[in-house]
Amino acid sequence: MTSRDGGRGLEGRTALVTGGGSGIGRGICRELARAGARLLAADISYEGALDTVDLLSLDGHQARPVALDVTDSAAIGGIRSRLEAEGWMPDVLVNNAAIFGMAAIEDIEPAEWDRMIEVNLKGPFLMMQAFIPRMIEQRWGRVVSISSTAGKTGEAFASHYCAAKRGLIALSRSVSLEVAPHVTVNCICPGFVETPMTRTETRFWQSRDPNISEAEVRMRMRNQIPLGRMGRPEDIAGAVRWLSLPVNDYITGQAINVDGGLDFH
Ligand SMILES: NC(=O)c1ccc[n+]([C@@H]2O[C@H](COP(=O)([O-])OP(=O)(O)OC[C@H]3O[C@@H](n4cnc5c(N)ncnc54)[C@H](O)[C@@H]3O)[C@@H](O)[C@H]2O)c1
Repeated sequence: MTSRDGGRGLEGRTALVTGGGSGIGRGICRELARAGARLLAADISYEGALDTVDLLSLDGHQARPVALDVTDSAAIGGIRSRLEAEGWMPDVLVNNAAIFGMAAIEDIEPAEWDRMIEVNLKGPFLMMQAFIPRMIEQRWGRVVSISSTAGKTGEAFASHYCAAKRGLIALSRSVSLEVAPHVTVNCICPGFVETPMTRTETRFWQSRDPNISEAEVRMRMRNQIPLGRMGRPEDIAGAVRWLSLPVNDYITGQAINVDGGLDFH
């Protein structure tokens, strides 16, 4: 996709993608870099972030790895100061980092619940708090958070994950109302996407039924998707890019499904 003026759309902009070291986050980094942005691939796994940056650099893009735990507010403050001093403050923030787990409600340990909410909901809150003020100041910014269709429909044995993802939609909607008109804040809700995270789900269903193969679990997922295939990181990345473009200044506070038709909401 190109912008209306024929450019790639994000030249001269800097984008920070949390969880940029794996799966969907890596795909988003690649797509935003192709759109012309300088990339900050931020991840709790520095090795993952470094691998992403290596891939982007091979393609001639400008990118830097950032070691980041989205739950660590002091560390986020330090990173913000460093980026500010170095002229790398993000114009586009993508809250993509998350963890996933599956367990029956009676088996979720309170500490597990807390960690799910910390990473998947408090993390985006801390990142918005750190990086939105400058966007408001400069009268331009984009925040895109990766929620999930599960945050709308719910999912059995993932109540903690779904609660956090639903919360992320409410957080984004509320912040979008606060920061309008120059900063837009939206969510993308993927369905089933082929990434390391999907393996947690297949392993869970196999643990409940040892006779079921991984291929069968995947087939069951696929069969629920009207477009007949699992999502790919680039499907999600394309939507993030589209929402990030300057030309898209009339979409805010939305939670858009990119799920092959899985859900309607
Ligand atoms: N894969 C799917 O089917 C699917 C479906 C719906 C939504 N999503 C969402 O898409 C996003 C990306 O998921 P994915 O499938 O690429 O997963 P993934 O596990 O491949 O990637 C998640 C990344 O987040 C990083 N991360 C985890 N905790 C972190 C922390 N505290 N601080 C910083 N980084 C941290 C991990 O190191 C990893 O690189 C997540 O928000 C996920 O909830 C995924």
